[in-house]
Amino acid sequence: MSKISAAITAVGAYVPEYVLTNQILETMVDTNDEWITSRTGIKERRILKDDGKGTSYLAIKAAQDLINKKGIDPKEIELVIVATATPDMKAASTASYTASEIGATNAFSFDMDAACSSFLFGMSVAASYIESGRYKNVLLIGADKMSSIINYKDRATCIIFGDGAGAVLFEANDENLGLQDEYLRSDGTGREFLQATYGGSSHKLTAEILENGGQYAFQEGRTVFKNAVFNMADAAVKILERNNLTKDTVDWLAAHQANKRIIDATAQRIELDDSKVMMNIQKYGNTTSATLPLLINDYESQLKKGDNVIFAAFGGGFNWGAIYLKWAYNSK
Ligand code: UT7
Repeated sequence: MSKISAAITAVGAYVPEYVLTNQILETMVDTNDEWITSRTGIKERRILKDDGKGTSYLAIKAAQDLINKKGIDPKEIELVIVATATPDMKAASTASYTASEIGATNAFSFDMDAACSSFLFGMSVAASYIESGRYKNVLLIGADKMSSIINYKDRATCIIFGDGAGAVLFEANDENLGLQDEYLRSDGTGREFLQATYGGSSHKLTAEILENGGQYAFQEGRTVFKNAVFNMADAAVKILERNNLTKDTVDWLAAHQANKRIIDATAQRIELDDSKVMMNIQKYGNTTSATLPLLINDYESQLKKGDNVIFAAFGGGFNWGAIYLKWAYNSK
């Protein structure tokens, strides 16, 4: 009997309409377009302006885009996972609301959070459910309303992050296409360098904390940068070596879009030509859990059945890793 593999068979995405450009940021904090472009590669990012709308709004839109493109009946979806670092609320998962709103009434659902690696780790979880033979399909959505935890007076973070969502459908595949191998790691000693500290169970929000902007995300950029460059590249190298892949047999690198310099460094470590490196950070900034599905949504028309795609991410926690996936379809 051939092994069941878990392949991506559809992609969808959504980004909000409002475009926050570097020029607008220049009027908000002490920064400039030249600094942001040369240090990060970001030109603009999308922001969900409506305070009444949370991450589920983005997740639902991305899932609906996928459902329409694929023409799947949402009642056939068996599991909905929302990978996110910014859930709608602390209790009552974003995934259960999303599943109901898209009509996935026969599915169970849950959220998962590994900061910027949420979607990467979500790929592993989604694929495992299918490889085990227990479910035929899983809808994995990466969605974040980062603007809900960003201080627009802090130039160290507000220039980087944006809002968005992407969705993929994992289905059972009998041609050995889909997820082939993974190398995933965590190191909690890094959590002090990138966190949204207050409002959880260990640090409560007080009036004083709110006054000082403690509810927002904090990042010690330089340390995170160094760890990201080292670990993302290291994970990519390990995945290539373990699977006897070379710069010639890898077709695409889909790397977390946190900083163009980190992506370039990862590509250089595996000696990959620029033409094989997916890049859309200039348009969306760092959308945390949404960067990887937004990439494959943007590049879907160029991906071919059998292409060797390396996914890689690094983020808060620290959490990082790489996944090797064989693309399963040619887009129409
Ligand atoms: O997705 C989760 C994982 N996150 C990441 O991977 C992000 C990793 N970190 C980074 O991408 C980079 O560290 C940043 C983009 C956040 C910062 O870039 P950097 O090259 O590491 O800059 P830096 O923090 O070392 O700061 C260099 C200089 C400093 O001035 P001095 O001390 O050299 O005079 C900063 O004060 O740039 C200054 N600076 C800015 N200047 C203009 C810091 N932020 C800004 C800014 N505009 N927005």
